[in-house]
Amino acid sequence: MTVDLNNHYGLSPTHSEVVEACKIIEPCDALDMGCSNGRNTLYLSQLGFNVVAVDNNPNAINMLQHIVSEQDIANIQAQVYDINNSRLGVDYGFIACTVTLMFLNPDRIEAVIADMQERTLPGGYNLIVCAMSTEEYPCPVRFPFTLTKAGQLREAYEGWELIKYNEDVGTMHNGVQLQFATMLARKPA
Ligand SMILES: C[S@@+](CC[C@H](N)C(=O)[O-])C[C@H]1O[C@@H](n2cnc3c(N)ncnc32)[C@H](O)[C@@H]1O
Repeated sequence: MTVDLNNHYGLSPTHSEVVEACKIIEPCDALDMGCSNGRNTLYLSQLGFNVVAVDNNPNAINMLQHIVSEQDIANIQAQVYDINNSRLGVDYGFIACTVTLMFLNPDRIEAVIADMQERTLPGGYNLIVCAMSTEEYPCPVRFPFTLTKAGQLREAYEGWELIKYNEDVGTMHNGVQLQFATMLARKPA
């Protein structure tokens, strides 16, 4: 039985879409983009993925590195990296980017997604969860970037198999409605 490291270190539970994606994705080389303290990275690692975890916040990476060394984890490599650079340089079977795109430079989003796609192995997967701000549901949070058109993320993945795609609206505890695009896509083999 595996220990719940997120719970042990006071981290939030793994993002539900990462848990869902892992029901179909076999352990492989994975990239966690904007990993923060590593709630998703630790989960992937425990399932047997070799995880590169990147974030531009050195404190988050330090905390994750502390966990990695304390737990003697061999399959996580955590590093400070600015995703806006869009120079991943290595190929992966699974790239997860959950609630991170919204914090990037809007002028770099196209290049970042193109880099993710290029650096995905044939038959590999991209998971993206990103806030939207449409006329119908204007985003109440001032993120640097939001998807503004219905179907925008789906269009960016034309030619990929969409395993999952939705633009669901959720209600926050204060009653405010927030729309997210959620996509799990598979690159042609
Ligand atoms: C809301 S958190 C999401 C964390 C994680 N993906 C998850 O699902 O729990 C967004 C993360 O993106 C990171 N981030 C923001 N801008 C970034 C950038 N330019 N390069 C790398 N990481 C960035 C933040 O430091 C933060 O840890």
